[in-house]
Amino acid sequence: MIKYEKGVSAFKSIESDPAILDEIAALKEELKDDLVILGHHYQRNDVIRFADVTGDSLILSQKAVEMKKKHIVFCGVYFMAECADILSDDDQKVYIPDMRAGCAMANMANIKDVEMIWEHLTSGTKEKIIPVTYINSSADIKYFVGKNDGIICTSSNASRIFDWAMERGSKILFLPDQFLGINTAISKGIPESAIFTLDRLPDEKAIEVSQVFLWNGYCSVHKRFTLDDVTKRRNEYPGIKIVVHGECTADVVKASDAFGSTSTIIKMITESEKGSAWAVGTEQHLVQRLTDRFPDKTIVPLAESGFQCVTMSMITPEKLLNTLKEIKEDITEHEVRVATEIKHYAKTALIRMLAL
Ligand code: 13P
Ligand code: SF4
Repeated sequence: MIKYEKGVSAFKSIESDPAILDEIAALKEELKDDLVILGHHYQRNDVIRFADVTGDSLILSQKAVEMKKKHIVFCGVYFMAECADILSDDDQKVYIPDMRAGCAMANMANIKDVEMIWEHLTSGTKEKIIPVTYINSSADIKYFVGKNDGIICTSSNASRIFDWAMERGSKILFLPDQFLGINTAISKGIPESAIFTLDRLPDEKAIEVSQVFLWNGYCSVHKRFTLDDVTKRRNEYPGIKIVVHGECTADVVKASDAFGSTSTIIKMITESEKGSAWAVGTEQHLVQRLTDRFPDKTIVPLAESGFQCVTMSMITPEKLLNTLKEIKEDITEHEVRVATEIKHYAKTALIRMLAL
């Protein structure tokens, strides 16, 4: 069996004060009839251990609807908590332990710029353009796609959502992640010559020949994996399988064996044979958890040191405890509320996705 000795051990999960962990456990038990804690796969161990449900963005938004608890604490980033608020009933409250834990990529598409580009594209063609936004986007971008006959996707269902969009229009505007957009488009057989990245305004000719317009956003964590990392891992571990998140760049995805959501990555590795070797191109908390969970397999980060999502890491046990205390005392400082006028169409777009 291939043995991995370097790199992973350099990553240490921060150790928390045991008294804080005990306090969270006690408060969680006290509030349990009314409380659900949702945890994204990129959360640190001493946060995720308190999650009633762990998952990728799709699973967590589905669970937020299904579990009819009064208080939903979202250990993830802001757009995820917004989704839970959009989908939940009026008598449910959604909280995030740190209001500043946003997703940098989601913040790369602001509604004014999107509306300006939309006007430019729709006035440049008679063909129907379907706007599709990755779930990693703000509530007003979700409102925008819902209002314009569009839909939301996650990294789990992007391929199916592309099919949905192509059945309803001949062009797609994909927001905000250019890489999930291009990786999905290529996997659907759309030629690269028909994919336009909006780092500039397309002229009439470009609008005519393009099938997919990609917003110029990206994830600063996944963008850091390179083709050199892939080559290096293949040289170090002959026969290694490389699986990466769909937010990685197109050249990394093309050189890998598979790409997908965090759940896809977990499923593939879980179902793989004993003794198999994997290099994983995603956030390091998840990679480390997989390494620890499967000692009978070799699981290494695609890049030697692994990369963390700074904002996911802003959720700490201390902040989770603080939020639980606030819930007990009926304080709403960390409650996430999407404006009512935004909710309607944002919900339309989310429901369209969940219905598929
Ligand atoms: P998943 O939906 O695959 O968990 O991805 C969310 C995310 O933010 C990845 O960077
Ligand atoms: Fe956003 Fe990237 Fe962090 Fe995911 S890993 S939450 S896309 S910044």
